Amino acid sequence: MARILITSALPYINDIKHLGTLVGSMLPSDVYARFERSRGNEVLLICATDEHGTPAELAAAAAGKDVATFCDDMYDIQSDLGQRFQLSWDFFGRTSRAPTHELTQHLADRLSENELIDERTISQVFSIDDDRYLPDRYIVGTCPHCGYENARGDQCENCTRVLDPTDLVDPRSAVSGSTNLEVRETKHLYLRQSKMVPELKKWIASKEDVWPHLVTSIANKWLNEGLHDRGITRDLSWGVPVKHGDKWPDYDGKVFYVWFDAPIGYIGATREWGEATGNDWERWWRLSKGADDVKYFQFMGKDNVPFHTVGFPVTQMGSGEDWKLVDYIKGFNWLTYYGGKFSTSQKRGVFMNHALELLPSDYWRYYLMANAPEGSDATFTWEHFAATVNKDLADVLGNFVNRIMKFTASKFGNEVPEGGEWGPEEDQLVADLERAIKVYETEMTALEFRKALAALRSIWVAGNEYLTRAAPWAAFKSDPAQAALGCRVGLNLVHLFAHLSEPVIPTTARIMHESLLPAPELLPWPDGNLKDTLERVPAGQPFTIPDVLFQKITDDQIDEWRARFGAEE
Ligand code: 2FM
Ligand code: ZN
Repeated sequence: MARILITSALPYINDIKHLGTLVGSMLPSDVYARFERSRGNEVLLICATDEHGTPAELAAAAAGKDVATFCDDMYDIQSDLGQRFQLSWDFFGRTSRAPTHELTQHLADRLSENELIDERTISQVFSIDDDRYLPDRYIVGTCPHCGYENARGDQCENCTRVLDPTDLVDPRSAVSGSTNLEVRETKHLYLRQSKMVPELKKWIASKEDVWPHLVTSIANKWLNEGLHDRGITRDLSWGVPVKHGDKWPDYDGKVFYVWFDAPIGYIGATREWGEATGNDWERWWRLSKGADDVKYFQFMGKDNVPFHTVGFPVTQMGSGEDWKLVDYIKGFNWLTYYGGKFSTSQKRGVFMNHALELLPSDYWRYYLMANAPEGSDATFTWEHFAATVNKDLADVLGNFVNRIMKFTASKFGNEVPEGGEWGPEEDQLVADLERAIKVYETEMTALEFRKALAALRSIWVAGNEYLTRAAPWAAFKSDPAQAALGCRVGLNLVHLFAHLSEPVIPTTARIMHESLLPAPELLPWPDGNLKDTLERVPAGQPFTIPDVLFQKITDDQIDEWRARFGAEE
């Protein structure tokens, strides 16, 4: 049994996530965790809300709440949505809790002892009316190059030139609009990442043929463009406070930068899990405490890759302690909405809460994983979503289940019939399934989700093809024993499909299973002889017919959703 640690990029607390975030980290980590659990491995799936930073403060202010209350409320919302999407987290923690705070302060101490942190004085814009320092992107003004009036202090959106806030003409605060700004000197801690470039290069080189090209190419770009030392503190009140004492005596009002503590949140949330459940969290994270035989997988969108291939490893390696490093990074491209950006700030696209108002989670889970933005960006459209659901879920899987169960009940009653001997049709079925299951398992193991889901679909198709060939409805009059065999095998296929489909569509899989046999908490991966597996539901077993598993999406619904969510091509 392998031990597998899985983390999904921690969703920001500031808003409800859209489908792009779901498919780029949270959902695939869950599908993979379910798959590995079903194969009998010991899996720990960890996620948490990423709660610090200016976006959280501003979102709280916009909601008229103090930031702690805002985060409490939003944590509950995100946790509930995760559960409703059947994300099987072993723990969903919070970076605002003590374990992440303590670990962040501890690791900063260690980095400083190893001379990887130094202090620098920089000039930063202070907004007198807002009584706060403003991060570069919260200063807006006129671009000196193109005259665009809403340029941000870090970059002009119009001409894309990179800016310094002091370049802006007529600068003002994006928080309040105030022009009452001044430049002040302020001290900050810097992480001397540049010192670790040789070690990082060696590490990334060792992953070159292992990790997706998307991931190593982003890492190499950063390393080869010259890695800058990075400011890891900010003048804010919300975050992990910089510890005082002799080392950093006057750091009141300063906290660590959110990207410094966020990945430490993976460890912090594991520690929360340990404290909540009485488990040993260090067994998953400290090499000397057992983590040397853990395989660690991270899931994230491509914008997060630099922080996981450079930032977090610098923290871990630079501490000089025996932290478990990631073994495999699964990075994703973007899911677009009609070719444009899903946007949290502009509320463009479909968000997790709205998605569940329309349809149950399995519809989304299947569609998103079947079209995961792996090799390139992928586009969400209502038309494509409806076509996929209607064909794959409603026709290929749902109709198969409904057809065989209804037919069996109408001819043989609600018990699995005995039937005659296995023949060539059944042998052919076993051969088809063996081939398809092997591909499915191989692609899941490789975390190639689009290919894995195509293989899952081909498994369902093999079942349909068997029923077409065996045609119990045609055989019934002339050879009832033959028809009964077709029904028994067909019902066993429903059972097999439940086990195989569980990682992707867990709710439906349980419904399918329970219509035939009580479902254990974990539906194990079918191993051993497939013919035996297709005898698991015995003759005489009573069964019930579930309601239609997947409703087809109508043209009217597509029109309605296009209108509600916006859908310019
Ligand atoms: O991009 C994001 O949504 C970040 N909150 C991801 C953080 S991942 C990890 F480092 F915490
Ligand atoms: Zn079963």
